[in-house]
Amino acid sequence: MPFAIAIDGPVGAGKSTISDQVAERLHILHMDTGAMYRAVGLSCLRAGVDINDEAAVTKHLQDGKAEVCVRYADSLQHTLLNGEDVSTAIRTQEAGTAASAVSRYQAVRHAMVALQRDFAKGQSVLLDGRDIGTVVLPHADVKIFLTSSDAIRAERRQKQLAEKGEFRSFEEILAEVRARDLQDETRAIDPLRKADDAVIVDSTELTIEETVDAILSIVHQRTAGKA
Ligand code: DC
Repeated sequence: MPFAIAIDGPVGAGKSTISDQVAERLHILHMDTGAMYRAVGLSCLRAGVDINDEAAVTKHLQDGKAEVCVRYADSLQHTLLNGEDVSTAIRTQEAGTAASAVSRYQAVRHAMVALQRDFAKGQSVLLDGRDIGTVVLPHADVKIFLTSSDAIRAERRQKQLAEKGEFRSFEEILAEVRARDLQDETRAIDPLRKADDAVIVDSTELTIEETVDAILSIVHQRTAGKA
């Protein structure tokens, strides 16, 4: 019997890394839905479309200028924009900010949610994002709300950026994390919020391995032998 796992949470909570490892341990595919919003954001940036102009972003999408799709090679997600693999290009701060902006719009959410639901049909999957447990897969077998303090999320992000050669101040990154939280939590459509039946996993004091183990043990309890 296929089963579905939904992992939601704020920016920098480690959703992608942890979801990758949980999915690998369960031998199922992981869809990072944030990557899809990033691809739409990137498309707007490249085309010079104002990300704060809902009508312009909607037209860009409806004109077929931002065709997003997700493919897998060796269980690894590749995010394609108009056929181009943009998996690396979407990992910038600018693409993240653009994603947060365009993800406020109904037309964008509508298109991405349809792709995500389609992916979850007929196979066991793990999806991570902001609205998976509340909107995309409201009947998911397991719902996790993965979070940690904003300071630790900013610290982790600072480290990640430094590894890529981008050195930024902690204060600046913390301000960005807080701004993104605010935008994701207060948008009118499908804001980031914990589903009523989601289990909170707070990774502030946990290592990646401990967080993965905590989630796996919840998965095993909830799926009772399916996973
Ligand atoms: O997880 P991330 O930082 O890659 O996500 C980028 C943005 O995409 C995030 O700020 C909000 C949006 N997003 C969303 O609205 N719904 C999702 N399911 C995933 C991401």
